[in-house]
Amino acid sequence: MHHFVYKNDDLYCEDVSVAYIADQIGTPFYLYSHSTIKRHFKVFDNSFNELDHLTCFSVKSNSNLAILRLFALEGGGADIVSGGELFRALRAGIPHDKIVFSGVGKTTRDMEIALRSDIFMFNVESDQELQILDRIAKDISRKAMIAIRINPDVEPETHPYVVTGLSENKFGIQIKDSLNTYALAKDLKNVDVKGISCHIGSQLTEIDPFVKTLIKLKELLNELIKMGINIEFLNLGGGLGITYNDEKPPHPIEYAKALKETIGENKFTLILEPGRVIIGNAGILITRVLYTKSTTHKRFIIVDAGMNDLIRPTLYNSFHAVQPVKMTHSEMFETDLVGPICETGDFLAKDRKMPPFKPGDLIAIMSAGAYGFSMASNYNSRLRPAEVMVKGKLFSIIRARETNDDLISGEVIPEFLQR
Ligand code: LLP
Repeated sequence: MHHFVYKNDDLYCEDVSVAYIADQIGTPFYLYSHSTIKRHFKVFDNSFNELDHLTCFSVKSNSNLAILRLFALEGGGADIVSGGELFRALRAGIPHDKIVFSGVGKTTRDMEIALRSDIFMFNVESDQELQILDRIAKDISRKAMIAIRINPDVEPETHPYVVTGLSENKFGIQIKDSLNTYALAKDLKNVDVKGISCHIGSQLTEIDPFVKTLIKLKELLNELIKMGINIEFLNLGGGLGITYNDEKPPHPIEYAKALKETIGENKFTLILEPGRVIIGNAGILITRVLYTKSTTHKRFIIVDAGMNDLIRPTLYNSFHAVQPVKMTHSEMFETDLVGPICETGDFLAKDRKMPPFKPGDLIAIMSAGAYGFSMASNYNSRLRPAEVMVKGKLFSIIRARETNDDLISGEVIPEFLQR
C-alpha cells in the first residue's frame, strides 16, 4: 500500500497533485511520500516487537538526508557501507550507537572514522579486515564491537547480480572457516566479538531462504557457545522483496513470524537491515515526454529521464510499472520507454502496453524509491534530478536539481594546459 493514487484521473502523492509539482520544479524528479515511508518503517519495525531488535535502514538503498532523518525520528538505526554513508547517517541525526558498518572492502580510513564516531558494530568480512580493525582500534585506544559476516551458502532465488550469500560470492566468510575467524577475534584485545551477521541477497520473495539461513546461524551459535564466545547480536541483513509487477513477497509480519518461530528460545538481539521493503514503493520517478517516434518495428516514447537517473532496468532488466500522471483511458500500444542517453541500453521499460503518450505528457515510473537516486550518475553530463518529499498537503524539495556548477565541481584544468 502506498499513497500514489488517482483523484479524478490525476495522479496524486498524498494530497498534492504530481502535475502541480512538475509545473513548479520541472522534470525529472524523484517523489517520495512521507506517510508511506513512515508506515512502511513502522509496520516492519513493529512486526518484531516481541523480540529485542534494532532496525537499521540500509542507507545504500536511499541515502537522502531527509529520508534518513525520518527514520532517525522514528527510532531507526542505519546500515552503512562507507564513510560517506556514515557521514550522512550522523548528519541526519541517526544516533551513533545505532549504526552498523557492513562491506567487503572497508578502508582503514573509514574504519578509523567509524571507530572515532563510536558506532555500534562492525560486520567484519575477512580475517585481514579483522586484524586491521584491531590494529586501528589499538592505535586510537578504542574497542570495536564486531559481528563476523557469515556467507551461509543459501540460494536466495533472486537476480544473480543481487545474490550475496552463496560460496561463489565475495561476501562474508564461509561457515566452515568462520570458527577460525571467531577464534582469532576472541584472542584480539581491541575487538569485542559479540555477533553473527549475514545478508543473503536482495529482492527475495520467499521466506524459506531466510529461515534456512537462520537455522545455519543457530547451529553456528551453538558452536560458538562451546568456544566460550558470547553472542548477543544476530544480524540477518536486509533482502525482503517488494511488488514491482506481480511478485508476491511475504508481508513483514509473516517474515517476522517465521523468524521468531525459528529463533525459538535463544536470547539475543536481532538486527535487521531493510532497505527496499521500506523505501522501494514509497518513491516514484516523474519524467516528461520529449518526443515520440516509430520505426517499422517499434514505437518509442523518448522521455527526459534516462539510465543515469534510474539504472535498474538497464542493469538488471528490472520491471518498473509505467503510469500516466493524467489517466487517459485510451487504447494501449506496445511501446519502449527510452531516455535521451546515447546508449541502446538506455530504457526504462521495454515492450510494454502504454497509452499513446504525446510530447509534454508526464509519466510516473513506479517503485523507484530504492536504488533509484542512490545509483544515479552524471553520465552524458546530465544533471542529477531533484528529489521531493510530500507530507499531506506540503511538498518540499529535499534535494535540489543539480546545476552545471555541481557538474564540474572539483574539476581542475592544470597549469600545463593553460595558455
Ligand atoms: N544489508 C547489506 C549488507 C546489504 O548488502 C544490502 C543490500 C542490504 C542490507 C539491503 O538490502 P535490501 O533490504 O534493500 O534488499 N542495487 C540492487 C540492490 C543491491 C542490494 C545490495 N545490498 C537493486 O537495485 O536491485
